[in-house]
Amino acid sequence: MNIKFNEKTNTFYLHTKNSTYAMMVEKHGYLSHLYYGKKIVNQDLSYLLRYKEISFSPNPPGSIDREFSINLIPLEYPAFGCGDFRVFSISIFDENGYEGLNLKYKGHKILNEKPELKGLPSTFYNDEAKETLEISLYDETINVLVNLYYSVFYEKDAIARHVVITNMGQNIIKINKAHSMCLDFNHDEFDLMTFSGKHGKERMLNRNSINRGIFTLDSKRGASSHQFNPSIILASKDANENMGESYGIALVYSGSFSFDVEVSEANTTRVTAGINPCQFLWNLKQGEAFTTPEALFSYSNDGVGQISRNFHDLLRDNLIKRPLEYKLPPVLINSWEGCYFDFDSDKLIKIAEEASALNIELFVMDDGWFGKRNNDKTSLGDWYVNKGKITSGLYDLVEKIKSLGMKFGIWVEPEMVSPESELYKLHPDWAIHMKNREPSISRNQLVLDFSRDDVKEYITEEISNILNSADISYVKWDMNRHITDVGSSLLDKNSQGEVLHRHILGVYEVMDKITSRFKNVLFEGCSGGGGRFDAGMLYYMPQIWASDNMDPIDRLYIQYGTSFIYPPCSMGTHVATVPNHSNGRITDFKTRGDVSLFGAFGYELDVRKLSYDEKTLVKEQIDLFHNHRKLIFNGDYYRILNPFRDNASAWAVVSKDKHEAILCFVQILSEVSTLPKIIKIPGLIDDEIYEINKEYRISGASLKNAGLNLELCFGDFKSQMFYLKKI
Ligand code: DGJ
Repeated sequence: MNIKFNEKTNTFYLHTKNSTYAMMVEKHGYLSHLYYGKKIVNQDLSYLLRYKEISFSPNPPGSIDREFSINLIPLEYPAFGCGDFRVFSISIFDENGYEGLNLKYKGHKILNEKPELKGLPSTFYNDEAKETLEISLYDETINVLVNLYYSVFYEKDAIARHVVITNMGQNIIKINKAHSMCLDFNHDEFDLMTFSGKHGKERMLNRNSINRGIFTLDSKRGASSHQFNPSIILASKDANENMGESYGIALVYSGSFSFDVEVSEANTTRVTAGINPCQFLWNLKQGEAFTTPEALFSYSNDGVGQISRNFHDLLRDNLIKRPLEYKLPPVLINSWEGCYFDFDSDKLIKIAEEASALNIELFVMDDGWFGKRNNDKTSLGDWYVNKGKITSGLYDLVEKIKSLGMKFGIWVEPEMVSPESELYKLHPDWAIHMKNREPSISRNQLVLDFSRDDVKEYITEEISNILNSADISYVKWDMNRHITDVGSSLLDKNSQGEVLHRHILGVYEVMDKITSRFKNVLFEGCSGGGGRFDAGMLYYMPQIWASDNMDPIDRLYIQYGTSFIYPPCSMGTHVATVPNHSNGRITDFKTRGDVSLFGAFGYELDVRKLSYDEKTLVKEQIDLFHNHRKLIFNGDYYRILNPFRDNASAWAVVSKDKHEAILCFVQILSEVSTLPKIIKIPGLIDDEIYEINKEYRISGASLKNAGLNLELCFGDFKSQMFYLKKI
């Protein structure tokens, strides 16, 4: 049993392999957070609670206990309005318009399952012990029941949390904020690590100390966004990759989100995370329940690297569902940067012939195959084949590609509509819009209103028809604008605050239906590159296009930042042409290949234009990927050099049994008068001898502690790859 309740001390303990999470029902019935950190025994921890009379800290209603204030105690799920002025997880307007909630413990259950989060993506148990703690909190005045759920993933050192809010009263209440979790710490000795960016430069690592005040990380874009990823790590100031305490938190949500991190007047730290309260106001009628998205968190005392490996294992084993056939990913070629909109079936077949000769396994036809789509101005929503381009139809094209020994994949952007489309002419009200405003346009497109059943049904059937019309093995599901002018023509004026969340629930519903109908199809998520790279999407789509920027040097930073939470198997990584289309940089074909090999690997260029030497390299890269994709997709990932600091990046993937490893080193700018670098390779077995690139042998202990002497790099942007095998 990893969940325990001590009735004498009213304390709950959640244990994972290396961590303990403790909370207690304390004075006045509040649920306080006691401890989250390195594993400890189930002892009475109430001594950790600190009571003191501090001015301007309100006491509970009807109490004369001046030393007790919910503004000062660590709370499991803080509510706004009745005494706690810090950032809060929940706020509700009652039928009088009052904003107040006073949540007290009502009861608990230990469940031997993980309750389903209705309509939302979430982690699932496989063979591990299934244990969930349900704690009920209640507000007596307005009869609101708040159930907190904690599911323990023992081996992964992780806990999944969510909340269900039920209106047990008779009147409508309005939920103004409903975050998924809260973590209170009794100190502020943390650095906060966030992953922020922009289109083409997603998930750049930031690490800053936290200070008195409130730091908010959010997206108000209706998507998790390129700008801020829904994940953070709180690290002790001395934590590095291999040592020190850290806490990772990630939301399983793809819509507008927020993380609030507050350092209070008492130098305590509070973190809450969940749906962004901006543009969110949810009506809850008598008997109705609202479920928050899931938040995942993990603790490690062995550095930030271990947090990443915990998350990689959790997401890979308990969230991502890869079709059996694609447990090992195929090498693909995508038509986008090679052709953009300029193609027809003849051209595609010629590229495919060359790609097949190079052993590429999957041909993906990107944007431009439907409606009248010859540029980005038109046709989203008109999901029928453009016979002017795909002259003998999709079925015929797919059969031709298959006859070359390749599988076929297709690009779609189901959530969008072009104002210049047949669909929009028929149903202008199907787009998200405000009735009294002309909507803003982004990439010449509008967002379909997935809060509407008719829209969801139509799109589900249209996309299914395409997928049924030919033998399609892969789908790239794109999403190329953020949501503005939030309004739905089917909802009344009191419900417009529900549109954004209803929309993302609708997106999930459609994704669920389509991915369940086409279980053997490999889906790849995309949003103008990595603009929706989150755990919510990974539940439906096992891999996500990490960025439109395929320059291997920019990718060092992007893949470095992404790796803090997300495993290599989830990142789409392609070799593109030079000069790079995003930044004009020229790099070696080898470097482009080496950096891309650590993900869902492929090519995105016109292979007909490659030189003889480059084609030889393509074959070698594919062989390398085939030999090591199992290791790369399933092994333990170690960041070794930090591109932000070291003018180089290096990382390694070590197999779970530690018998083999693959290591990549990339020099950014070349340095004059310098010695070759020596880097230490973690994760190996001390007493074993490893053969490196079949050339020389070094013990695991020496590689870990003394390191590996690399070759000197001459020239910018050079890469080296090493394969280590236990002899
Ligand atoms: C954005 C994606 O990130 C690209 O890879 C490509 O699919 C384009 N959209 C197509 O419009």
